[in-house]
Amino acid sequence: MDSEAQKAAAGRAAVDEVREGQVIGVGTGSTVNHFIDALAERGIRLGGAVSSSEATSERLRGHGIDVLELNDVDQLPVYIDGADEINRHLQMIKGGGGALTREKIVAAVARRFVCIADASKRVDMLGAFPLPVEVIPMARSYVARELAALGGQPELRRGFTTDNGNVILDVRNLKIMKPIEMERTINNIPGVVTVGLFAQRRADLLLLAGANGVEQITA
Ligand code: 5RP
Repeated sequence: MDSEAQKAAAGRAAVDEVREGQVIGVGTGSTVNHFIDALAERGIRLGGAVSSSEATSERLRGHGIDVLELNDVDQLPVYIDGADEINRHLQMIKGGGGALTREKIVAAVARRFVCIADASKRVDMLGAFPLPVEVIPMARSYVARELAALGGQPELRRGFTTDNGNVILDVRNLKIMKPIEMERTINNIPGVVTVGLFAQRRADLLLLAGANGVEQITA
């Protein structure tokens, strides 16, 4: 199975985590797109979905799934999303697609976070994938200097604006030995909207697709 087929297998497996009539949270990315398509194929009728990006909202609506405002929903039983990296504690780097802020907000509201991923995403230490940081545009240079002081090499994601009107700095070469501390430290830099470290709110279940099928992993 190549990585696209693994993503599709993980997406299909996630449908079993959802029940008819539920309002669920839905993340962003190619693995999540497989999940949305699989939901529709299985004919699961949701009460609706809270989406983490404009791209996901469009795909959900394309399948006739109602997209609800988070402000109109008190709680979500489950949030389904992919990751760029995930470690054995189910802490993640996310934001390769630039949707990290809304992803973190929707994940915070959900009772369970189910991460769906192909085998390439599983790592021993987070940080080989450049860490995305969403930043208010006027703070870009200041935040970049602060991230460099932490030992990283920030680079502006060119030609990209988030759904919230901000920019992304992708930070290379960070050795993330203590993800929770690093998440707090970067979140504390004025001008940072969100860091793509999901360590304080990690996943509860990982559906990891590999050559031999989909494995269920809990922390
Ligand atoms: C988007 C994300 C995605 O979950 C992450 O980039 C993984 O994407 P894909 O499923 O396409 O590999 O965090 O902001």
